[in-house]
Amino acid sequence: MPVPLVHVLVLGGTTEARRLAENLAAPAPGFPLRFRVTTSLAGRVAAPRLPPGEVRVGGFGGPEGLAAWMREHGVDVLVDATHPFAATMSRNAAEAAALAHVPLLALRRPGWVAQDGDRWHSAGSLEEAAGLLPALGERVFLTTGRMGLAAFAGAGTDALWFLVRSVDAPEPPCPARMEVLLDRGPFDLDGERELLRRHRIDVLVTKDSGGDATAPKLTAAREAGIPVVVVRRPPVPQGVPVARTPDEAARRVRRLYASG
Ligand SMILES: NC(=O)c1ccc[n+]([C@@H]2O[C@H](COP(=O)([O-])OP(=O)(O)OC[C@H]3O[C@@H](n4cnc5c(N)ncnc54)[C@H](OP(=O)(O)O)[C@@H]3O)[C@@H](O)[C@H]2O)c1
Repeated sequence: MPVPLVHVLVLGGTTEARRLAENLAAPAPGFPLRFRVTTSLAGRVAAPRLPPGEVRVGGFGGPEGLAAWMREHGVDVLVDATHPFAATMSRNAAEAAALAHVPLLALRRPGWVAQDGDRWHSAGSLEEAAGLLPALGERVFLTTGRMGLAAFAGAGTDALWFLVRSVDAPEPPCPARMEVLLDRGPFDLDGERELLRRHRIDVLVTKDSGGDATAPKLTAAREAGIPVVVVRRPPVPQGVPVARTPDEAARRVRRLYASG
C-alpha cells in the first residue's frame, strides 16, 4: 500500500527553514506518513542555498494568493520559517492559513540576549536606529541587510561613514558615505574583530536576528567596548504557535498527525 504523503509548505529564506526541510524529508522511525516539502523563497537573493525537496520562488500576491496556492497544491500544513523581520510575510501567512483552513506554525530562532559588558541600545525600527547613531559614533558597521538602507540615507546621518555588509549589492537610496562588503554568514570571531579594527568601527547596527551564524560581531563589539544599536523584532502574529528550533518544528508537525 502506498505511504500517504503530507504536503508541507515552508516559507523559507533562513537556515532554519532549510534544516526543517531536511528534517521532514528524512524518514522518522515509527512515523507512518511521509512528507512532501515545498520551500518557498521570495527571490531576493541571486544564488540562494537550496533545501531538499521542491522549491518555488517569488511572491504569491498577498494572503489571498497564498491561500489560493495552498488550495491548488493540496497543502496540508504551513510553516512560516521566514526571517524574524519578514513581518509582512508572517502576517500574510496567518491570514492565508485562516482563509485556506490550513494549520500554521511559526519557526523563530530565539533573539539575542545582552551579556555583561555589552553596550546595547534598543531601537524599534531602522529609522529609530539611524536617529541614535550621531550620538554614538561616526564609523558605523551596518549589518541590517540591503533592504531598508534608505533609513540611513537621511540628512541626520550625513556626517557618518558606513561599512554596509550584505549578501547582494544594495540599491539606492543609500548612505552618502559608505563602503559595501558583499558577504554571507556564518562569520567567525577573528574575522569580525579584524573588520572592526581595520575599518576603525565605533558603532555597530544590527537587527535582533538571533542565531549563531552572525552572533560573533556582538562578541567582537563587546570586546572592543563598541556600542551596538539592536533593532527589536516585530511580534509574531497573535495566536500563531511558535517553535524555536527546526527539530521542535518538525516534532510539532509530526505530532499533528500522530495525534490525529
Ligand atoms: N527581512 C530580513 O531581514 C531578512 C533577512 C534574511 C532573510 N530574509 C528572507 O528574505 C525573504 C524576504 O524577506 P522580507 O523581509 O523582504 O519579506 P517581507 O517584507 O515580510 O515580505 C514582502 C513580500 O515578499 C514576498 N515574500 C516574502 N517572503 C517570501 C517567501 N518566503 N516566499 C514567497 N514570497 C515571499 C511576499 O510577497 P506576496 O505578498 O506577493 O506573497 C511578501 O508580501 C524572506 O524569505 C525572508 O525569510 C529576510
